[in-house]
Amino acid sequence: MPERARLGILISGTGSNMAALLYASRLPDAPYEVVLVASNNPAAPGLALAAAEGIATFARDHRGVPRAAFDEGIDAELGRVGVTHVALAGYMRLLSDAFVAKWAGRMVNIHPSLLPAHKGTRVHEAVLAAGDAVTGATAHLVTADLDAGPILGQVRVAVVPGDTPATLAARVLHAEHQLYPRVVADLVTAAVRPEALLDRVRALALALPAAGEKLSHGAPGFFVEGGKFFAYWRNDHHADGIVAVLVKASGVEEQASLIERDPDLYFRPAYLGPSGWIGLRLDTGDVDWDHIAEWLTRSWRASAPRRLAMLPV
Ligand code: GRF
Repeated sequence: MPERARLGILISGTGSNMAALLYASRLPDAPYEVVLVASNNPAAPGLALAAAEGIATFARDHRGVPRAAFDEGIDAELGRVGVTHVALAGYMRLLSDAFVAKWAGRMVNIHPSLLPAHKGTRVHEAVLAAGDAVTGATAHLVTADLDAGPILGQVRVAVVPGDTPATLAARVLHAEHQLYPRVVADLVTAAVRPEALLDRVRALALALPAAGEKLSHGAPGFFVEGGKFFAYWRNDHHADGIVAVLVKASGVEEQASLIERDPDLYFRPAYLGPSGWIGLRLDTGDVDWDHIAEWLTRSWRASAPRRLAMLPV
C-alpha cells in the first residue's frame, strides 16, 4: 500500500463533515489522513475541534482580501503541509478559477441535496417548498460551475411529514457523514485500485492491432492473433503485494539494467523472469501511462507475426 493521501479540509462553520472525515481517517486501513483544516472564518467552531484533535489549522478572515489572493494564501498553506487532496466541508466561499484549476480532479464538495436538484443555498427550504418526497446528499468533484461537477456519490433521504428545514437538515447531515468519508476514500485510492489499473492496461493493450485477451494461469493476458502473449496482468501474485503488468524486454541483460536504473518501477517477475520478461509496477500511485503504452507497443511488436510487426503503431 502506498503512502496515505494527505487531505486538507476547508470549512466555514460547524465542521461536522470535517469531523466525520477525520474520525473515518482514524479507522484501520483508512487510505487518507487529515493534515490541515483551514477556514475563511477564524471563529468557525470546527477549527477548535480540529485543534483539539491535534490537526494543524489555518484561519484567515476573507473580508477585504481579493478572492484570488485569499485563495493563494490557502493554497500556500496546503502546499506547505503536502496536501494531496482537498475536501470542502461547509466552505461558504466561492473559489477562484486558478484554485479550482490547480486542484481539478483532487477536490471534492458535499452538498445537502440530490444534485442536480437544488443547487446553492437554502436547500432544505427549497426541498420543502417543492414538496419533494425524497432529498439527500451529494458528493461531487469541484469544477468552475457551482455544485455542478461530476457526481461521485449520493445518498437518498426521505422527507417526513412535519419536517422543517432544521429537522431535514439534521437528517441529511447524518447521510452526509456516511457518504463523504466513503467518497473521499474511493477518490484517493482510484489511482491505485487494481480494477481501475487493469481497465487502463486493458484499454491500452486492446488498442493495439489484432490484440486479444484471455486468461493465462488464471490472470488476464494479452496476445496478438497469430502470435504470442505480449503482456500479462499481475495482482498480488503469490501474495507479493505487487500490482503490475509484465512485458517482454530484449533479454536478461536489459532486464538487469532496467532494474538497476529504476528499482521502484521495474522488477524481475517470477517464472517469466528468466526468459527476459520485465515487470512494470502500477501500484506506485504515480504511473507514467505514456511509458506503459510505449512498453506495451514494443512488447506487442516483439510478439507479433512479421506482417503485423511491420505496421506503424
Ligand atoms: C452541510 O450540510 C454541507 O452539505 C453544506 O454545508 C453544511 C456544512 O455542515 N455544504 P458542517 O459544517 O459540515 O457541519
